[in-house]
Amino acid sequence: MNSIVQNATATLSLLVRQITFQAQGINSYELVDPLGKELPAFTAGAHLDLHLANGLVRQYSLSNAPTDRYRYVIGVLRDPNGSGGSAAVHQLTVGEGVKVSAPRNNFELAEDARKVILLAGGIGVTPMKAMLHELELSATDYELHYCCKGPEFAAFKDEFEQRGSAGNVHLHFDGGDPRNGLNITALLEQTQDGCHVYYCGPGGFMEACRNAAAHWPAGTVHFEHFKAPAPISAPVSADGVEGFTAQIASTGQQLFVAFDQSLAQVLQDAGLPVETSCQSGLCGTCKVRYLCGEVDHQDYILDESEKSEYLTVCVSRAKGGVLVLDL
Ligand code: FES
Repeated sequence: MNSIVQNATATLSLLVRQITFQAQGINSYELVDPLGKELPAFTAGAHLDLHLANGLVRQYSLSNAPTDRYRYVIGVLRDPNGSGGSAAVHQLTVGEGVKVSAPRNNFELAEDARKVILLAGGIGVTPMKAMLHELELSATDYELHYCCKGPEFAAFKDEFEQRGSAGNVHLHFDGGDPRNGLNITALLEQTQDGCHVYYCGPGGFMEACRNAAAHWPAGTVHFEHFKAPAPISAPVSADGVEGFTAQIASTGQQLFVAFDQSLAQVLQDAGLPVETSCQSGLCGTCKVRYLCGEVDHQDYILDESEKSEYLTVCVSRAKGGVLVLDL
């Protein structure tokens, strides 16, 4: 079954049980079932969609241990230049109801990893914290490097510092200049047999990690963006037509996607069961298999092998001609 249909689940109505100041601009939110029931299970790296009062839907990684079956904990950085999502979360109050999706995971830990290197920049630490819990439980060798401007910006700092005594959690404070922080290139210079690398953070940090890990073997480097690095473009096709045609394989139906429309929007308007979430090519919710066509992917989630089979209908387009979707 296509992942889109599998993910078309109802939202959960939860309660904000606790809000904790974690660092400058960062609060953590503990969400629980109002009747204290067990919550749907998750694995480290998973995120939730938060349905906010202002109509926005935003994704936030779960930071607590997956063995916690009665709560979800997210960490949210208030972005004063954002589009209102994090500001709306920071207006939540204890005892307030909040609607969330069931957890989804596009940033899973590899089961066969002998060692794991976790690289976190700023608020990108939230999925890494859940990973740390899971790796400790499975007794997998790991090291976590958490990079931020200073201790006052480090979420979950006390907990990390306690773990730091075991020698595998490292906090790096650069005072705002990455040249004074962790040397990611040196850290990843030597590949290690059976070792997997995970990274998450702001744009410059992601680029530094991507460059530093470029020589690592395929399938051993994993990442998650929390913000799309570049705006989505809708190129004019080679034949000058400002759009492309999508064909539904099961029915033969053809749908035209104009330059100012997303494929997701056209599919939804045609009544097809397409679920979206981030609308930015970040979360993988809208992943669809395609059978034929030249795809301009524009997402930040699929790896090269997945791109030969799947596209994300919120941002992906055809470079021209007809794109046949396995729907
Ligand atoms: S909705 Fe998130 S990748 Fe398309």
